[in-house]
Order: sequence, then C-alpha cells, then structure tokens
Amino acid sequence: MSVADWNPRSWRGLPALQQPEWPDPAALDDAIGRLAKLPPLVFAGEVRNLTAALAQVADGKAFLLQAGDCAESFDDFSAASIRDKLRVILQMAVVLTYGAGVPVVKMGRIAGQFAKPRSASTETVDGAEIPSFRGHIVHGDAATPEARVADPERLLHAYHQSASTMNLVRAFTKGGFADLTQVHKWNQEFVKQSAEGERYERIASEIDRALRFMAACGIDLGAEASLHEVDFWTCHEALLLGYEEALTREDSLDGGWFDCSGHMLWVGDRTRQLGGAHVGFLTGVENPVAVKVGPSATADDIVELGERLNPMNIPGRLTFISRMGAGRIAELLPPLLQAGDKLGFTPVWVCDPMHGNTFLAPTGRKTRRFDDVMAEIQGFFSACTTEDVWPGGVHIELTGENVTECLGGSDDVLDTQLDDRYLTTCDPRLNARQSLDLAYRVAELLRN
Ligand code: TRP
Ligand code: MN
Repeated sequence: MSVADWNPRSWRGLPALQQPEWPDPAALDDAIGRLAKLPPLVFAGEVRNLTAALAQVADGKAFLLQAGDCAESFDDFSAASIRDKLRVILQMAVVLTYGAGVPVVKMGRIAGQFAKPRSASTETVDGAEIPSFRGHIVHGDAATPEARVADPERLLHAYHQSASTMNLVRAFTKGGFADLTQVHKWNQEFVKQSAEGERYERIASEIDRALRFMAACGIDLGAEASLHEVDFWTCHEALLLGYEEALTREDSLDGGWFDCSGHMLWVGDRTRQLGGAHVGFLTGVENPVAVKVGPSATADDIVELGERLNPMNIPGRLTFISRMGAGRIAELLPPLLQAGDKLGFTPVWVCDPMHGNTFLAPTGRKTRRFDDVMAEIQGFFSACTTEDVWPGGVHIELTGENVTECLGGSDDVLDTQLDDRYLTTCDPRLNARQSLDLAYRVAELLRN
C-alpha cells in the first residue's frame, strides 16, 4: 500500500493484530459511524506544532517527557486524579528543564490511552477461560465472562471521557495551575519530605536562585505568560484502529489527514509489523508517530520502519521508544542507534524503562523495581553518549496517587506492601514520589 492509495479505512485490507473479538460487527460499525460525526479532540495546527517541537528534540535542543497511566480507567476518572497526574508531570518537567538546560516537551499518556495489547487472548481465572482484559474502551475488567464481552458503546464512552479530560488539561495548563513558581514550591515541599532531601536540595535551591535572579533583573514572574502557561500534548497507543479511523479527519486548511484522537500516536512492539494494519494506518496520518522497539527489534527494522513511516524525512515525524530491560539495553540498543543514523532524518530516541522490567512478586502482583527503571535509563544515556545520539526523552508509567505498585524509591515501597494500594487496571505505575525521585536522578544524568 503506498501513501497515494491510503485512506482512513485502508488498514482494513491489512492484517490487524490485537483487535478484540466484537460479537456484533453491525453494532461496531454503527458506533464507529457515530464517532466519525463527533468533533475532533485535537486540531491539525496543534499537531503540526508538536511535530516542530519534536524536531527540536531530534536535534538535541529539547527533551521529551512522556508520562501517564498504563491504561486509563473508566472508574478512576475525576478532576482530582487528572489534576494530580498533571501536577506530578509538571513537577518532573521543571526539574528536567533545569537539568537538561533545554525546553521539556510535556506529553501525557492521557485522554485516549485506553486500549491494551495482550500476550494471550484468554486467561484462566478460577479454572474458567475468559477473554484477557484489553482496556475499558473494550470491556469491563471484572474477571467474569460477562464483563469481558467487547461492547462498542465503550468506544463512545472513551471518546467522551477523553474530551472532558482534554478540556480540564487545557484549562489547567493555560489557566494558572502550571505557574512555574507554584510548581517549584511543590517541588520544595517534596524535597523537604524526601529521604533523599539533601541530594535533591541542591537542584531545588539552584532553581530557587534562578527564579530570584530573574526577578532581581526586573522580570515580573507573575506577568510573564511563558512562566505560568505550558504546552501539554496528548498521546496514546493507536491500537483499536476503528476508533482511530473514526477520529481521522482531513485538514480543512491545506488537506492532509490528521488522527485527531490525540497529538501523537504510537504503535506497540507487538503490532509494528511493516505489512501490518497498524503501521499501514500510521503511514497516512500527518501526526508525529512513535514505534516501541523491544529486544526482538533489529537494525533492519529501524531502517525499514524509518523509511516506511517517514519517507519524506520530515524532522520530528518519527520517534523510536526503546524498551529493552535494564539487563539488556547495553547490548541491544547500540546497533539500533547506529541504524537510526543511516536514515535520511534524525529520529527522536526515547527510553521506556518500564516495560522491559516487569516481573511477578511472590504475592502474584505484577511489579517493577525503581532501581531497575533507573538502571535502564542509565544504560540508555550511556549507549546514547557512546553512539553520539541525543538521549531524547523518557517514557514513564506513573500516577499522581500514592499507590504501592512499584518497589523501591527513596521511600522504599516493600514487596509486603504491594497489596496496600495496588490500584492499576493494567501495569504497575510509579507513584508521585517515585516519579519525582526519578526526575531528580534523570536531571543529574542530564547535567553530566
Ligand atoms: N512555559 C515554560 C515551559 O513550558 C516554563 C514553565 C512554566 C514550566 N510553567 C512550567 C516548565 C511548569 C515546566 C513546568 O517550559
Ligand atoms: Mn503498560
């Protein structure tokens, strides 16, 4: 399929992995038809601005912070949970901006991150085989055959939840919540209460001095719009192609197709086949796109995906998100970085230190160790340094809540505590304090 015969439906002629079994295809078509009439969630002009921001990242002049839930939930949906998630991402962004000395592109796995690929299509619960949980956009998470029936009305529910999430995010990021002085104050609170306080205190007090220096120079910190507003972008895995198709719209200004379900879309490590429907779909939309690459990815994959997804060599169009596991990144990433160098453009390289480091705790809970997450990030930075590639960003699963899903961090969540507040509907997330720990440590890496 060439870009010339691409249209939002043309993926239907290609093999699509990881799609749910919809029991009533007519009801699915009907839901997709209704979605296609609803307003877009993002606008083409914004998407173009994001591509430009990512071009800066590719060029080593900005850093990408991509963070949010593994899977958004229909149940845990409130102003407070959106606010807390945004707050922790902003707090991380301030620290990283200072550490990197370049702008941080802030992007949430939010307002659309509902669908999950699964390694097995069924699971066995209490001796009964039921469909695996694929996210609230598909069905309920209860471990019963009834809950796991795929229901197309959930596509509309996901759209409406995304719209109201987006609305609040826009209000917060432009309405004063993102004020730099305020976000810095939250960080000072964190540093005061942190076991690593002294270590982090240095960066926090330097930021403090920088702010006071600007004020002393006569810059009115309250009046300067750039100091209390941020651009915040959304992204999710483009997994359910019917949903993406329905939200793909032709730009009224200068043609071109944009997937208006979010600013950036990525294709997962399990669905990145060159001849597959997911890659085929993403070839035709003008959004910036990303591909997750795990241990099975080869240098040829990088070259072929790069040529397929960015044939015009548009700066900022393509990001590779590496997810190798702490133990393997030193061996597996360098050949991919070298292959990226052969492309006609510079891709953005991002580290996802979460997905290669998941294991089952003795209690049977899926978890991750903070130290493994940090070790993978360190491995990523050192591979990038050796290969002379800019370490473009990090991709983190986190929540603003005080959950106990990942082990360790400076407050040390223990495996005996995993059951205390294990709330995720899918993978284990860093809690707010672990996320800030991570930001301070990445800032240290960026300074060196
Ligand atoms: N607008 C700038 C930016 O987005 C500075 C800024 C204001 C900021 N509030 C922020 C940075 C909160 C990080 C977090 O970079
Ligand atoms: Mn996940």
